[in-house]
Amino acid sequence: MEEIRIFAPATIANVSCGFDILGLCLDTVGDEMVVRKVKEKGIKITKIIGQDLPFETLNNVAGVAGLALLENIDIDIDFGFEIEIYKNIKPGSGIGSSAASSAGAVFAINELLGKPFSANELIFFAMQGEKLASGSAHADNVAPALLGGFTLVRSYDPLEVIKIDSPSELYATVIHPQIEVKTADARSVLKQQVSLNKMVVQMGNLGGLISGLYTSNYDLISRSLHDEIIEPDRSILIPEFNEVKTSAIAAGALGAGISGSGPSIFALCKGEASAQKVAEAMSLVYKNVGIDYDVHVSKINQQGIRILKDIKKTIENIGD
Ligand code: HSE
Repeated sequence: MEEIRIFAPATIANVSCGFDILGLCLDTVGDEMVVRKVKEKGIKITKIIGQDLPFETLNNVAGVAGLALLENIDIDIDFGFEIEIYKNIKPGSGIGSSAASSAGAVFAINELLGKPFSANELIFFAMQGEKLASGSAHADNVAPALLGGFTLVRSYDPLEVIKIDSPSELYATVIHPQIEVKTADARSVLKQQVSLNKMVVQMGNLGGLISGLYTSNYDLISRSLHDEIIEPDRSILIPEFNEVKTSAIAAGALGAGISGSGPSIFALCKGEASAQKVAEAMSLVYKNVGIDYDVHVSKINQQGIRILKDIKKTIENIGD
């Protein structure tokens, strides 16, 4: 294979009670990337459509993640890669924009090399892109992008990521008020110490959520979607956060919270009809106060990044 076209999905990190360790993969929103082998060694970003992002390999998350992979190959390769990125996910939206590019780059390069690396290794390389983007090498967006479904980072050192089963009827609604919140800024407002009481509540909810996901116990999922630690400090960065969250739950969502580092707000729902109703309720809050937004309803994407067949289509669809 000389060239590959992929869909690199958006993701929701934290999922209320799993700061930096829990994430899920979306289906209906994501970037496309084309990666091809070229004579020149190394990695070149040759095209970025849809967003204004750096082309220099060392300043681009896809470039840095790809280089982390190439540095770990134990055979000598006499070719390099060029990467085209067609962005639909807005940077600073809270649905894993940098993760999609980082994970997409390492997935595609690994495919073009004949898959020498395991999924866990790819997660590690993609985390280097996240480090460039936010100063922290968190895996809770890149892991669900690469593995699909819900993922839990059981340990960062050594890295161990577990894919979590989830009910087939589970849907996510995610609304993005059109402001940008940089992950680094959203991390800088967090306290570095957590009280023992809060830790007990958060651990109970995380365990409950994982158990509810495995057993399709929607009531348990609903009771567990609660963030004792991060949400109180970060929600002030998000316009109308409490109103949007309350409206989502009143409209039937199992629970709602900040998507990743925000400003997007997510809700989990049982069934697509419920998720659509919740999308309308959340949208209404922003409509009423005149804030522009994007809203997405998506099944949980169990596959993660996928290979697309027709390379030309990306170029036609997203514009050139
Ligand atoms: N866990 C990370 C954070 C996700 O909340 O900062 C960033 O998308």
